[in-house]
Amino acid sequence: MAQNIYDNPEFFAGYSRLPRQVQGLGGAPEWPAIRAMLPDLNGKRVVDLGCGFGWASRWMRKQGAASVLGLDLSQKMIERARADTGDAAIEYRIADLDALALPEAAFDLAYSALAFHYVRDFDRLVRTIRKALVPEGQFVFTIEHPIFMAAQNPQWLDGEDGRKTWPVNGYAIEGERRTDWFAKGVLKYHRTFGTTLNTLIEAGFQIRRVEEFAPTPQQIQTTPQLAEELERPMMLLVSAS
Ligand SMILES: C[S@@+](CC[C@H](N)C(=O)[O-])C[C@H]1O[C@@H](n2cnc3c(N)ncnc32)[C@H](O)[C@@H]1O
Repeated sequence: MAQNIYDNPEFFAGYSRLPRQVQGLGGAPEWPAIRAMLPDLNGKRVVDLGCGFGWASRWMRKQGAASVLGLDLSQKMIERARADTGDAAIEYRIADLDALALPEAAFDLAYSALAFHYVRDFDRLVRTIRKALVPEGQFVFTIEHPIFMAAQNPQWLDGEDGRKTWPVNGYAIEGERRTDWFAKGVLKYHRTFGTTLNTLIEAGFQIRRVEEFAPTPQQIQTTPQLAEELERPMMLLVSAS
């Protein structure tokens, strides 16, 4: 049974105040890198897995996507996505990615941002997505980077050279991780970088591009606190077909 922490009122209130939720895609520093991985959306049938407030679903329709199906476990997220969207070609539904069922060969693009690290059975999910895509379909997703995930309730340490140090421990021990982020004991699932990519390969995907997001010098100039993202990757971006 998935945790559904996004329906926790305290968590939801805190999460809703993040720049990426207030400003939308422009508030996510990794968005330009994701955008560069996305195919031409014109006429595409898209499924947005863990769609949250629906920022990407709406953007994809503006880029010409024929339809977008946004799925999310959280009723609060789906309610907000519906309230912010006035477009009959976007449908939002409550769904658990750990028990996902999708029609076969029904989508040209499967997209997901920062949701799969909440999923226990990644292998099942990836195989379901593979069957739901047309043969030339594309799959673009982001997750918390395994190096970021591996640390439990991670806190920066002072490195000997004056740099910040990130405490990665138990990297090869996959499975549950609990962190305190807007609520105590938020449940996530750690998988190594190798497992993540091999799961895609074994399901029949061809990996097209992998980005371990790091901010550009211009982004750091505008938002100096992003400099800490140079010390360890926080997000992994993958494109496959
Ligand atoms: C960090 S938010 C990202 C939301 C959106 N993709 C974005 O980038 O703004 C993660 C989303 O995944 C959803 N989620 C978590 N576990 C899920 C599951 N098992 N099935 C479906 N959605 C899930 C949460 O409810 C939340 O909306």
